[in-house]
Amino acid sequence: MNIFINLHSLLSFSQNLLRAASSASSKAAPAASGAPFRCTLFPGDGIGPEIAKAVQVIFQAAKVPVEWEHHTISTHAVTPGGDLISQEALDSVIRNKVGLKGPFATPIGKGHRSLNLTLRKALQLYANVRPCKSIPGYKTKYDDVDIVTIRENTEGEYTGIEHEVVPGVVENLKVITRAASARIAEFAFKYAHEVGRKKVTAGHKAAVMKLSDGLFLECCRDVAKKYPHIIYEEVNIDNAMLYMASNPARFDVMVMPNLYGDIASDLGAGLIGGLGLTPSGNIGETASVFEAVHGTAPDIAGQNKANPTALLLSGVMMLRHVGHHSTAAKIEDACLSTIREGKFRTGDLGGKASTTEFTEAICAKLR
Ligand code: NAI
Repeated sequence: MNIFINLHSLLSFSQNLLRAASSASSKAAPAASGAPFRCTLFPGDGIGPEIAKAVQVIFQAAKVPVEWEHHTISTHAVTPGGDLISQEALDSVIRNKVGLKGPFATPIGKGHRSLNLTLRKALQLYANVRPCKSIPGYKTKYDDVDIVTIRENTEGEYTGIEHEVVPGVVENLKVITRAASARIAEFAFKYAHEVGRKKVTAGHKAAVMKLSDGLFLECCRDVAKKYPHIIYEEVNIDNAMLYMASNPARFDVMVMPNLYGDIASDLGAGLIGGLGLTPSGNIGETASVFEAVHGTAPDIAGQNKANPTALLLSGVMMLRHVGHHSTAAKIEDACLSTIREGKFRTGDLGGKASTTEFTEAICAKLR
């Protein structure tokens, strides 16, 4: 019975991610399904290079026909007055249509603009899609988390338009446009429709931010009318966080402006076991970039302790995006069964395995 439950859950987990990735990615997918492809790789800062290396090793073991194009985007490469991200790096993603990225460090409260925001804005990666689903065999408080957060990625509170009016008074402009709100609402409903999800919840604070969040809701309502078979609801973002923490099964697909989506998606990651496990896709019209949702983990960088799962599962999303479904399923199964078996788990999951040992355990299953 237990075996059945585990296999069944694993299967639906895989199918879910598979459908999620295919649907999320339908717009900017390269033409040839299953064919050799090029991918721009940004290893990033901190643990980024270690986990990117792990993904490359695992992809090689699975014989993925990928050619990596390495480019450096890093806080250490930023020079005063220079471009935060080189045109060469942007052109590489546009040409390849897909990229895989590790985390970028961002100076807190000072220094240059966020490299993540710059990349998302430059490539118009307007939809951040994060499937947060309980991992069979890895026990957390809830076994039934199955939420997909869809976050508007280009505007809202993260425009980066801030200024000091007078000393001691600063303004930060939250920008909500009809065009971007309608685009993300359409994406969320289309996604829900294509993967057979039943409900879309819009997170907002329109009682306070009446015009901006009000416009966001107006766009969601308009789009919802086109999808009468999908339940549409609106929940205040503070209440939504309470419900997510106390009864996550209440949610299905959630669509939100930038900041709320950022917070909700990290809460979702926490519900399934932490940031080290959660993949994501930043989807645009012309290119898509897949990334782990965690940061550079400076406390463990360079120590061979990082869990590469989030970046690996982001790579799995990318593989489905380019049509390599069976290889994607093989890698995903090898990764999830390694976690489920428990012999090689990294420290964040309560184990003692190094990044290299965990990577090797996955490769051994693939060979
Ligand atoms: P963080 O995600 O780097 O670390 C939070 C905690 O989670 C740390 O204890 C870390 O060791 C652990 N952790 C994260 N990823 C892990 C992994 N794969 N395996 C094992 N443990 C892992 O968040 P923090 O400390 O707030 O941010 C550090 C830097 O990362 C900052 O400069 C921040 O701006 C940047 N950052 C970048 C992101 C991106 O590029 N998408 C996202 C979030 C933060």
